Amino acid sequence: MDNSVHRLQIIQSHLLARSSLTITDNRNGKTLEVPIKNGFVLGKDMGKLKNQEGENLMVYDPGYMQTVCCTSRISYIDGDKGILEYRGYPIEELAEKSSFLEVAFLLINGELPTKMQFEKWEHKILHHTYLHTDISRMMKNFHYDAHPMGVLVSTMSAMSTFQPEQNPALLPGMDPYKDTLLMNKQIYRIMGRIITVAAYAYRNRIGRPFNEPAQGLNYIENFLYMMDRLNEGNYKSHPKLVRALDVLFILHAEHELNCSTAAMRHLASSEVDVYTCIAGAAAALYGRKHGGANEAVLRMLEEIGSVSNIPSFLEKVKAGKGRLMGFGHRVYKNYDPRAIIVRKIADDVFSVCGKEPLIDIAMELERIALTDKYFIDRKLYPNVDFYTGVIYKSMGFPTDMFPVLFTIPRVAGWLAHWKEFHADPENKIVRPRQNYIGKRTRDYVPVDKRQKSDFFLSSVTSTRAKRREVN
Ligand code: ACO
Repeated sequence: MDNSVHRLQIIQSHLLARSSLTITDNRNGKTLEVPIKNGFVLGKDMGKLKNQEGENLMVYDPGYMQTVCCTSRISYIDGDKGILEYRGYPIEELAEKSSFLEVAFLLINGELPTKMQFEKWEHKILHHTYLHTDISRMMKNFHYDAHPMGVLVSTMSAMSTFQPEQNPALLPGMDPYKDTLLMNKQIYRIMGRIITVAAYAYRNRIGRPFNEPAQGLNYIENFLYMMDRLNEGNYKSHPKLVRALDVLFILHAEHELNCSTAAMRHLASSEVDVYTCIAGAAAALYGRKHGGANEAVLRMLEEIGSVSNIPSFLEKVKAGKGRLMGFGHRVYKNYDPRAIIVRKIADDVFSVCGKEPLIDIAMELERIALTDKYFIDRKLYPNVDFYTGVIYKSMGFPTDMFPVLFTIPRVAGWLAHWKEFHADPENKIVRPRQNYIGKRTRDYVPVDKRQKSDFFLSSVTSTRAKRREVN
């Protein structure tokens, strides 16, 4: 063998030894060395370990706590150091210098836009803010007190039926999402229409007619116009509030594989159309452990009611009776960098709208929690949503609109992941495996010979008992 090739092989094996994992399978004594790359091992390498029946070794990981499922270039988080970057730009700098629409361009297209690119981008998005009249008619049919997230999820899903030309289900043998122009068109439509859908969900809720999108207003101004205008000819939203919402939108635009973005990729993997993907991602966001947390924080602060009730509230949380909403994060084990920026925005908003009294409870709650052993031991810090609810309340948004205000900007992140997913040669339909512990190979029992199951008995009893209790 050539000496240089031999030397290369030795270097390679040393490198592998330094960044590899050696596993001994005690079931059969076999040893396997697998490379570690970027801090992870490949699932398919672990699958080389097999039992006597030849079945691959699997990894059990509820909640995907330790699972890397894709390669991405969109956002970077260092949860221990409290770092968040979009396409390499620190969130603090984007919040200070950029606008939401510019950040959306960055996330979706990979680079900040030039002046000309931005003008075209803004024009295209604002040009697509109008809803088909059948969609707005449909939105009027929701019950007057429908939660706006329910309306938003259903409307985004319904939108799929209005754009058949992009729907893979209707295009056998074709791959519409390989066509950049067609993809961009859906991006403009979704980014544009989401503010109109959000505003209409609110207007329907308060029984007021819909405002058509206006000419000459930017993205945020248009959203506020459609939300708030009564019949003023010269409606103008306060520039400080426009900027506050713009920054809040920047902070909420993207956060790598959170529950809703993971849902977006999950749905995209089945090749369902992008409107249905957005509806599914928005549904995942609605939950109170995720994007519904801002609403839950406000309801919690209202329930606490006064600073003097904080200690007893925290005792209940520590005893496992409920959670301190707006605290804790799967990835951040330090202060969420977005929460620091949000806290600063609160003062700007209060200077226009007046101080929201719940802020005193929130601040005292944060102060006590951050010095309490329970929260220190578990590394629980305020997340982005701890203060947003108080800000939105001060700005006059009703509580159930808060998750909608999270959804609008997160659409940009979802679309960035949707685009990245479709361009990824490694993409695959998502199909995790389960640990099945249920019954097997049972004999079918004819209906007249079946016994009532314990589960059925107990659930009926407990429901009746509950009803008796209430009465
Ligand atoms: N209040 C009280 N205890 C908490 C909280 C909280 N907010 N969050 C976590 N804990 C405790 C858990 O009870 C658990 O304690 P234990 O080890 O004694 O059992 C421990 O901390 C770990 O909690 P997990 O639920 O395992 O952490 P996980 O990473 O799965 O959950 C989550 C993260 C869902 C965000 C959680 O912290 C939570 O429910 N927070 C409140 C809801 C919230 O604010 N969500 C918004 C997140 S940010 C966003 O989506 C934009």
